[in-house]
This record gives sequence, C-alpha cells and structure tokens, in this order.
Amino acid sequence: MSADAGPGAVPAAERAAMESFVPSPATVKPAGAPPRSQDIATETAGDITVDNPRMCARGVDVFYAEKQAIVDVSLDIGQNEVLAMIGPSGCGKSTFLRCLNRMNDIIDVCRVTGRIELDGEDIYDRNVDVVQLRARVGMVFQKPNPFPKSIYDNVAYGPRIHGLASGRAELDDIVQSSLERAGLWSEVKDRLGESGTSLSGGQQQRLCIARAIAVSPEVILMDEPCSALDPIATARIEELIDELRRNYTIAIVTHSMQQAARVSQRTAYFHLGKLIEVGETNQIFTNPRHNLTEDYITGRFG
Ligand SMILES: Nc1ncnc2c1ncn2[C@@H]1O[C@H](COP(=O)(O)OP(=O)(O)O)[C@@H](O)[C@H]1O
Ligand SMILES: [Mg+2]
Repeated sequence: MSADAGPGAVPAAERAAMESFVPSPATVKPAGAPPRSQDIATETAGDITVDNPRMCARGVDVFYAEKQAIVDVSLDIGQNEVLAMIGPSGCGKSTFLRCLNRMNDIIDVCRVTGRIELDGEDIYDRNVDVVQLRARVGMVFQKPNPFPKSIYDNVAYGPRIHGLASGRAELDDIVQSSLERAGLWSEVKDRLGESGTSLSGGQQQRLCIARAIAVSPEVILMDEPCSALDPIATARIEELIDELRRNYTIAIVTHSMQQAARVSQRTAYFHLGKLIEVGETNQIFTNPRHNLTEDYITGRFG
C-alpha cells in the first residue's frame, strides 16, 4: 500500500497545521554505555494484541523520502481504551499516529507500507474514501486549531459536509450534544455565534474535540493535546478523555509520563521509530520489561 492520495480531503485549518509542521530533529541521547544486545532487538516487548481491537497495525514502516521514521511497528488499539504513546522527541509518535487516519498522505515525501485495519478493513485500500476515514478516525492537534468561524459553525462543519443532519433542528442537536460531550456547552451556549478563536486555549481545544466528535467518530487521535495548555485546562482535558473513553477509542501522544499514567489503560513506548514495548500502563511505569523503557521512564534519557 502507499500513502500518495491527494490532499483534497483535509480541512483547511488541519492542512495549515500540517503545512506549518516543522520536523523535530531526533534528540535521543545515548544512555551512556554502548547499546546492549537487547537494545537493538526488533521484537516488541509485551503483547501488541488486545481482545477487542478497533484498529490493528501490522508491519508498518514509514519513510520520509529515504529516511525511515517507523520500523516494522505492529500494534492493536482496543475498543474503549485510551492508548498512550510515549517516547523521546523524534521517535516517531506523531508519524505513527498520523498513519492511523492517513494524515501522512498529505506529506508528499511520506510513504507508508504494511497494513492498518479499522474494524477489520484495510484503511489504505484504494477504495477507501479518506474523507470518510478521517470522520471515523478523528484527530486533535497539539495546537488548538479552530476554524476562523463561529463556535457553532466549527462544530457544524463536519456534519454539514457529511450530510449528517436533515435540517437546522437536527444540526442544532448535533452541535449541542457534541459541545456537551466535550464539556464546553455550559460555557458557550449563549455565545455560539462568536468566533471559535475568541475562546481561551483550553476552550479552543475542547471546541476542537467537539468538532471531532460531531461526525460520530469511532476513534479519536490526539497528538500532545495539552502541551499548549495551562495545568487547569490540562486537567479538564484529561477528565474529558476519561469520559470519552466510554464511547470512543482514543490514541494519545504525550510527552508527559504523568499524563500517560493518568489517562491511559495501555502505554506504548517508541524509540528511534521502533515500538519497544507495550503493555498495561501500570506495568509499563512500575515494571517495564525492556531496558530502554526503563531508561526512559526513570529519566535516564528523553
Ligand atoms: N514532514 C516530515 N518530513 C520529513 N521528516 C519528518 C517529517 N515529520 C517527521 N519527520 C521525521 O521523522 C522522525 C519522527 O518524527 P515525529 O513522528 O515527529 O516524532 P515524535 O512525534 O515522536 O517527536 C523524525 O526524525 C522527524 O524529523
Ligand atoms: Mg510529535
């Protein structure tokens, strides 16, 4: 499979976010000693499978031109779970996350191989409609990126392009319920006509979550959704993630191990493009199997 479909499907603000993307150089510091043999094993420690997978990645490689950013990653993401992806900057967390809704398609030099399924269907199949796919697998970015439109129109955007409402009343209902689920309704119900960009950073991020929810996704991908937010706004988003888990599958990239420990049930540790270890969050943080995981969580590098 290849990820060379056209860019037409991506909403303007998300595209702008992607286009302004500056790749971070790999900043992995050597742990001091030369790598032990276990360090270079390609096998992932822990169980990559779950009982109720929503998404299954198998043998995924990602290249940016000649440079390989993801090496042979296989991983399931389970129904109603929050999966945290952690690892040093540049290890491929965002790249892997973007594979899950083909957001990498819009990066010209990016090539994805391997297989990724959503509910048993290959999302890279040539017959897959990527607009539809990105409604089923929504994405929330690091920097809140509301459209320069009203709060109402931000949330109504997806339902409108997907024809999900038969009339104004139904659209109103979708907007309200999405804002309620995103924990924003009570704060904005009297100012739906105001610009989304007039909200605080934390509110903007909840608006972006409401916008993702409005098209009834199955999976929500979040790439460091709190890194631009203050601790109070972060705590609200973390509570929200826990509530959303009842209805959605969530994969979240975070550079905060505390956040991973607070919000996730499973944690995946990436290092230099490889999935080193995956397991129950509690096990990863208290009893990691791989020495690279241990080095990272004990702060020896990263
Ligand atoms: N658009 C891109 N073009 C070229 N290289 C990229 C691009 N995005 C990421 N990379 C490279 O891929 C590797 C993984 O990056 P990324 O997925 O952003 O890591 P992380 O999210 O873990 O910090 C890095 O070496 C990075 O420089
Ligand atoms: Mg990243």
